[in-house]
Amino acid sequence: MSGLKLPHDLINKTLIKTSEVPIGLDYRRFGEKGSHITEHQAFRSESKRAVELHSLLLEGKSGLLRDGEIVMTGWKTESPFIPESEIDAIESAAKTLASDIDDFWSIGIGGSYLGIRAIVEAVMGSIEMSNMLSREERCGTPRIFFLGQNMDPVYTANVLALMKGRRVGGSVISKSGGTVEPAIAFAIIKDLMEKSYSADEVSKRIVAITASKKCSLRSLAEQKGYETFAVPDNVGGRFSVTSPVGLFSLAVAGVNIREFIAGARYGEEQTRSMPFEKNIAQLRAVMRYLAHKKLNKDIEVASTGIYDLKSVTSWMQQLGPESEGKNGEGLWISPEYYTEMAHANGQMIQMGKRNMFETFIMVEDPGVDVTITAKGTPVEYLDGETLHFVNTAFIEGLRDAHYEGGVPTMSYLLPDLSAFTMGMFFQTEMNVIALSGLMLGQNPFIQPGVQLYKDIANIRSGKPGTEEAAEKIKQKEADLDPKFIL
Ligand code: PA5
Repeated sequence: MSGLKLPHDLINKTLIKTSEVPIGLDYRRFGEKGSHITEHQAFRSESKRAVELHSLLLEGKSGLLRDGEIVMTGWKTESPFIPESEIDAIESAAKTLASDIDDFWSIGIGGSYLGIRAIVEAVMGSIEMSNMLSREERCGTPRIFFLGQNMDPVYTANVLALMKGRRVGGSVISKSGGTVEPAIAFAIIKDLMEKSYSADEVSKRIVAITASKKCSLRSLAEQKGYETFAVPDNVGGRFSVTSPVGLFSLAVAGVNIREFIAGARYGEEQTRSMPFEKNIAQLRAVMRYLAHKKLNKDIEVASTGIYDLKSVTSWMQQLGPESEGKNGEGLWISPEYYTEMAHANGQMIQMGKRNMFETFIMVEDPGVDVTITAKGTPVEYLDGETLHFVNTAFIEGLRDAHYEGGVPTMSYLLPDLSAFTMGMFFQTEMNVIALSGLMLGQNPFIQPGVQLYKDIANIRSGKPGTEEAAEKIKQKEADLDPKFIL
C-alpha cells in the first residue's frame, strides 16, 4: 500500500506578517435575562473605580501592589519598554544556543513555565505536533521540551528518553531559585549532561534565569559558569513572560521577540491611553468583577477552538486564580477546547448551574486552513468550504446557545496568531487580572496559598530543618479516624 497523498490545494497556509492590527473585544452578549451588563446600576461607579485603580497601578502607591517592600508592577512600567540592548543580548545568547543543540529543555513551573509554553504554541504551533516535524519544517529551530512543571516520573522518563543521544541544552528558570519541582528536574538533567559532555560544553549549553540577588540557583550558575539572565525584582512569576523569563526561551523556539515586545508595548499604551469605553483591559476587568460580585458568577470559562491556543487558556487558568483567589474570593477559570468539549462539559455550560460566564478567544486568520472535500457524504453541503469557516460557525453557535442559556459571554477578537498579536493579548490580559484583583480588594501580586503548599510539601518530602514540623504532621495524621480508610 502506498503512502497517503496530500493534494497541494488541500492545506492552505497564509503568511503571518507582523499584523499590527489591534485585538478587539466583542461584549454585546455580556449580560443575562435580556439585560446588558452596562445597564447594571453598579456599572458606572465600578467603571470609575477601575479607571482610578489603573492610575494606582501606574503610580505604584498602595500596599496592595507590594510583595514585601517591592512594588510588583514592573511588568507594566518596565518590561514592555525593555531596552534594545537587552533584547540584543537575549537574542544573541538564544541564537548561539539554538544553533548548537537538537533539543531545548525549558525548566520551570507556574509563572516560570506557562506563559512561555502558551506563546511558543500559539506562534510556532503546539510542541506535541511541531516536535514530530523535521528541523527544516520547524524553520530550523530545536525541538522544545518542558520539564519541572511536575514531578511525574512517567512524563519525565518519556521526555528524557526522547532526548537520548541528541545534543541538548536549555534554560532553568526559577525566580526564588528554590522551588523543588524545577530544582529536581534541573538536578537530573544537569547530571545527565555532565555525564555526556565536557564541562565546557555543559556550561555553554545551560542558561539560568533567576533573581538578581543571591539564591541557590544563582550561586550554582556562578560556580559552574552558566550564562545568566535576571528576573526583575518587581515582576512576579505569572506576570513575567515579557521579561527575560519568557523572552529567552521564546527566542530559542523561534518566536520573534521584538515583534512580541512591540505588541506588548502597544497593548500597554492602549490600556493607558484609551478612554474607558474603548479600553479593553478596563472594560473587561469591570465586567469580570460585576459578573462575580453582582451576578453571582464563580467560574469564567476560557474557550478556544484553536488547538495551538489551548496553552493560552491554561495560562489564563493560572494568571486569574493565583492572583485573585484570596480571602474567600475570586473567579475559577475553566479552560475549554471546542468543539471537543462541547460534547462533554458543554452540556453543563449550557444547562447546569448558572454560576458561570464565558470568554471566547476568536481568531480571524489562524494562518492555516483545510479545504473540505465532501462529495457524496452526509456533509456534501460543505464541499469546497474550509474548516476554519465551519469551526468558527460552530463556536459562534456555541457562544449564542450558551448566551441564550443564561451564560454572559464576551469574545477576544485576535486578527491572527502573530508574535505581535500575542504580545498585545498577553499585556492586555495581565492588566485585566491586575485590575480585577484590585477591584476585589486583593493584592494580585502575592500567592500566600502557593507558598503554604510549598512549605508543607517540603516538610513531607524531608527537607532538612523541618523535622519538628514533620513530627506534627505525623501526629495530625495519626489523629485521623482509621475507620474511614478501606
Ligand atoms: O506566579 C507565580 O509567582 C508562581 O506561579 C511562580 O512562578 C512559581 O511558583 C515558580 O516560582 P519560582 O520561579 O520562584 O520557582
